[in-house]
Amino acid sequence: MRKQIVAGNWKMNNDLAESKKLAKQVVKKIKKGKIKDTKVIIAPTFVSLASAVKATKKSKVKVAAQNMHFEESGAFTGEVSAKMLKSVGVKTVILGHSERRAYFGETDAILAKKVDAALAHKMTVIFCFGEVLADRKSGKQEAVVEQQIKNALFHLEGTAFKNIILAYEPVWAIGTGETASPEQAQEMHAFIRTTIKEKYGDEVANSISILYGGSCKPSNAKEIFSKPDVDGGLIGGAALNANDFYAIINSF
Ligand code: PGA
Repeated sequence: MRKQIVAGNWKMNNDLAESKKLAKQVVKKIKKGKIKDTKVIIAPTFVSLASAVKATKKSKVKVAAQNMHFEESGAFTGEVSAKMLKSVGVKTVILGHSERRAYFGETDAILAKKVDAALAHKMTVIFCFGEVLADRKSGKQEAVVEQQIKNALFHLEGTAFKNIILAYEPVWAIGTGETASPEQAQEMHAFIRTTIKEKYGDEVANSISILYGGSCKPSNAKEIFSKPDVDGGLIGGAALNANDFYAIINSF
């Protein structure tokens, strides 16, 4: 089912105590507020996942990991598997974030394996992709995004997409303060939905949620979320402040 979703990617921020505090603040705001239909997800670092699961237990807030390895276990120093995430109660994972691609060498081929591993564990995947500035300047943004989606996801059956959330994040807008205009976001989201439709048909295309990410904040979320093909946001910087994050959730 196509849902409104706001997910907070905390990146490498907040230690255990700070994460616990922020998770509790988010839960409190959601409980007090009148958020009904919007799904809320927070993604702290690995070390804070278990405590965030505990802090959000009696709420509608879900906890996601920011990454995982595709193998179950073994000699992969510094990595964490789907099974390990599930053992602390985490059932959602962000995969393919541009920072993982740029700084940690994650390729489409690696991401395809990660997606498979997460789905095999019945996890929900927030799959990120997006063009860099040079692609956009040369008008290649759609071709780049299409390839990223095809390479990592198009080996899947249509039914797999009920456990996938897409996140379009133009790299030039991440953490830069520069946001895609609502029109640019809508144009790309419509293109993404059409790409899914051409391969998997109307039902899959119309039921998948496509989030926008890249300097989304309380002042611009409402306009971006009002676009017909934008189903919510993946929020970085503004998710580190409970008031701002809540204001974004409240933007629908
Ligand atoms: P930002 O990050 O909101 O700080 O631009 C978004 C993201 O990287 O998910």
